Amino acid sequence: AARRKLVVGNWKMHGSLALCREAVPALATAGNAQVEIILCPPAPFLGEVARLAAGTALASGGQDVAELASGARTGEWSAGMLAELGCRYALVGHSERRQHHYENDALIAGKARACASAGITPIVCIGESLHERESGETRQVLCNQLDWLLTTPHWRNAIIAYEPLWAIGSNRPATPELAQETHAFIRAYLASCDPAAAQQLPLLYGGSVNAANAAGILAMPDIDGVLVGGASLQIQAMQAISATA
Ligand code: G3H
Repeated sequence: AARRKLVVGNWKMHGSLALCREAVPALATAGNAQVEIILCPPAPFLGEVARLAAGTALASGGQDVAELASGARTGEWSAGMLAELGCRYALVGHSERRQHHYENDALIAGKARACASAGITPIVCIGESLHERESGETRQVLCNQLDWLLTTPHWRNAIIAYEPLWAIGSNRPATPELAQETHAFIRAYLASCDPAAAQQLPLLYGGSVNAANAAGILAMPDIDGVLVGGASLQIQAMQAISATA
């Protein structure tokens, strides 16, 4: 069976309550049986988004989550708290968390595990830097990142987002062909552990996706959706991307 397409909007540290109130009703009807839309606003807005999206087809997700179920961790929130709001997803290991918050693969695997325990689907982000791509290390980098995730049996219920760092916020997306080639490699690597799980696991592409280039990317056989940053702040762009999925 064909995998359903996913369109994930990551607002990063942008947006407002006003944008939540405009975006949620507009996106609530933009999904359908073939495409699911997931909105990941900043944490302070999650309650409002989840409340407005309740009972609609629009899903919501955190941009991050703690690896612990609870504890003395000021400034963090647990997967269980996301679940209580009605969120079904959480981004885990976004490159900006890795870069600015020093998250490593072991921690990220722990966060994916915490999501699974709370019934939240982690969207685990991986990707190589420009230097790694140019020096031919892409596959090794991706395998290292995946190996940590593969230490938890819960990987089978995760979503993986491939985001080459050089394509994020750069207006320089990977070509659909390059993205497809990398996705096929990722899926084959997962298949060497569990072919059936690899076949059904959603693989998203992220990095300068917009309304103009989404269709070409989403047409690729191993690309099951997109993780949209900048363009996700434009409601019309999200509607257009979802319509092409
Ligand atoms: O999570 C989203 C990605 O980092 C992509 O961001 O679409 O602004 O390049 P971008």
